[in-house]
Amino acid sequence: MTKRGFFVSFEGGDGCGKTTQMRLLVERLKGMGLDVLETAEPGGTPIGRQIRKILLDSANQELSARAELLLYFACRAQNVDEWIRPALETGRVVVSDRFTDSTLAYQGEGRGLTAGLVRELHGIACQEVLPDLTIYLDIDYKAGLARARARNAEREAAALADETRMDEQAEEFHARVRQGYLALAAAEPGRIRTIDAGQSVAAVAAAIWSEVAPHV
Ligand code: TYD
Repeated sequence: MTKRGFFVSFEGGDGCGKTTQMRLLVERLKGMGLDVLETAEPGGTPIGRQIRKILLDSANQELSARAELLLYFACRAQNVDEWIRPALETGRVVVSDRFTDSTLAYQGEGRGLTAGLVRELHGIACQEVLPDLTIYLDIDYKAGLARARARNAEREAAALADETRMDEQAEEFHARVRQGYLALAAAEPGRIRTIDAGQSVAAVAAAIWSEVAPHV
């Protein structure tokens, strides 16, 4: 890489409010005149959005844990190659709704696949691309799930309810995901900054800004 931009990812359990917070941050950065690439995992690129459909379709109950793992990384490899790496090389700020920490928490801890396997695939899919800063929005998994399920019910009313396969996992799964995130944050406190997502939207946004501002 010649010139290097700045890469921020957002992480958290389902219903932690990260999509709202990410939008607020992106607007603020753009308001400062910064050139921002906004992306998401799974999704982001047009090909990634097709993979996302397979991953989140609640009809795909037979999807095996390893197939799920590989699809998340296929999606990420495409995002890194097509969008993220070129953006960082030209000095843009990249903000991603989730990245490999999600896979460590959900597939590693949630599904019980080994962290070694997830990290090996990360190396293949992402090469050396890793967020410079990760905002982890921590919320009690029960409160997060209640929010996510209320949102799914609203989508159902609007006939958009096909993205629920992960939210429908057992509560113990989501409890393990949170434990996974807390362990990741404890292991890498410099990169992964934990914010209490149970506060008001404004308070969470202010806490996020105090983490991001020194870097931009
Ligand atoms: P997302 O679109 O962020 O949904 P939400 O707003 O509900 O958090 O993520 C979709 C789901 O995919 C979410 O349940 C987390 C899960 N996921 C994984 O299991 N592994 C991964 O690597 C990623 C990126 C997401």
